[in-house]
Amino acid sequence: MSEDKKVLDLKQRMEKIYRGGGTKAVEKQKAMGKLTARERIIALLDKDTFQEYDIFVKHDNTDFGMQDKELPGDGVIIGTGTILGQPVAVYAQDFTVAGGSLGFMHARKISKIMDYALNMHIPIIGINDSGGARIQEGVNALAGYGEIFYRNTISSGVIPQLSVILGPCAGGAVYSPALTDFVFVVDQISKMFITGPEVIKTVLGEEISAEELGGARVHSEVSGNAHFFSTSEEECFAQIRRLISLLPANNEARPLPVVPSKPKKCDISKIVPADPSEPYDVRDVIRAIVDDSAFMEVMELFAANMVVGFGRINGQTVGFVCNQPLVLAGVLDCDSSDKAARFIRFCDSFNIPIITLEDLPGYLPGIDQEHAGVIRHGAKVLYAYSESTVPKVTIILRKAYGGGYIAMGSRHLRSDFVFAWPQAEIAVMGAEGAANIIFKKDISEAENPAEMRKLKIQEYRDKFANPYVAAAKGYIDAVIDPKDTREFIERSLEIAKNKTVSRPNKKHGLPPF
Ligand code: HXC
Repeated sequence: MSEDKKVLDLKQRMEKIYRGGGTKAVEKQKAMGKLTARERIIALLDKDTFQEYDIFVKHDNTDFGMQDKELPGDGVIIGTGTILGQPVAVYAQDFTVAGGSLGFMHARKISKIMDYALNMHIPIIGINDSGGARIQEGVNALAGYGEIFYRNTISSGVIPQLSVILGPCAGGAVYSPALTDFVFVVDQISKMFITGPEVIKTVLGEEISAEELGGARVHSEVSGNAHFFSTSEEECFAQIRRLISLLPANNEARPLPVVPSKPKKCDISKIVPADPSEPYDVRDVIRAIVDDSAFMEVMELFAANMVVGFGRINGQTVGFVCNQPLVLAGVLDCDSSDKAARFIRFCDSFNIPIITLEDLPGYLPGIDQEHAGVIRHGAKVLYAYSESTVPKVTIILRKAYGGGYIAMGSRHLRSDFVFAWPQAEIAVMGAEGAANIIFKKDISEAENPAEMRKLKIQEYRDKFANPYVAAAKGYIDAVIDPKDTREFIERSLEIAKNKTVSRPNKKHGLPPF
């Protein structure tokens, strides 16, 4: 065969594989409003940067009942490319080929690209659209999943791992995403469950649709399995590209800085009402601080009493952990504790400084919370802050009561800089509750108990519900004018740029520097 013919032959072989599971299967995919696996990769990466590997891999032809089937690429596409110029590794399962099910060679391909990503120290993005373990391949398919889960775990905290759910993902197809850093879902397209509606009906007699069981909204609002919700695949890819631009390539790198810019002009002190019981949206405070007022929220729809996400200060990525007074007065409860702790650990793993904006009445009391384990969930926040060694700046905007004061990035858990606004109230509890307890006798024995109660509340407020008791002990570094907030954060981050701290050697948590 001449050279030209060989190249033609190569192209024809590739064209055949590019057709995936064939016209009918592709039409079915399109009818569901989904892109094909190959289209997804092209849409995600920078133009003309995708380099594919293992395109000619064939499935293990000893499979039960599948010997005669052609499974192009064994149902998964792997390769590398760039996003906004940054190298990334990527794989996309092809639902048109045996439902994107994971066979032995399919798993070998994913494992290979995961190894590349780990060795090259670059982020990996997995696009999942799969019926889970390929039933015909039995234990070989299970072995394949085991290999992937192991690699997810070893890569955790070393390279960012992003999972995109773009189809019905069952069984093993959801456990790998659960081991990664961020899960993206698209309304009406993504489904995640360990076992689908059919199995649930057979085993438990319960009836539920796939959407209600494991749709994008369910995992974004209720289970907390998903971190980013969107309404189309295109929007989802735009989210991923934005997130990649904010993250470092690995745990030894820093996020690439961009040209610094200022937030949009606004009077930050007007955002937070003076009355401590009045709600406001803490995201307005974040936007008044970050470059371009651009904030990328993570887990926006889950545990909304806590706001976490990324922004930039002076061109450099920072992570925000903030109480949200708009929802449940910003309390810490089981879900918001999990959300904050996970995010703090991510930032700490990837050299992203943490900015805490604090305004909360404390941990949420109640039978439901106690029985749901608010003690162990809440403890995760204490652990995550204490363990983290990245630069940490805390701003107390208003309330900092009780356990909430300690938990939300206090000096005692080793925040590097703690600043408070003049209206901050730092105390064991709010004035009303405190006065009722410590002045119980004075109030009950007074001629006018209601008047006495008012007086005692004011007395307590004057004495304790301010930032100056904490400032007198050096627990906060400065009481600042709200309008200087960004400047204080900027300077603190500059000073903490070369921060190193040592920790005792141990098997879990961070190794010593
Ligand atoms: C082999 C599979 C498959 C699988 C789907 N297909 N799942 N083939 N193994 N696990 C095939 C179908 O036979 C079909 O092939 C094609 O993919 C499309 O599937 P449909 O059922 O027609 O599509 P749809 O109606 O959209 O339903 C998608 C689905 C459903 C919800 C994913 O297929 C399903 O429930 N599959 C099984 C899910 C599951 O229980 N997986 C095993 C999990 S156990 P044809 O040739 O007809 O086009 C597991 C173990 C690991 O993963 C656990 C680790 C902890």
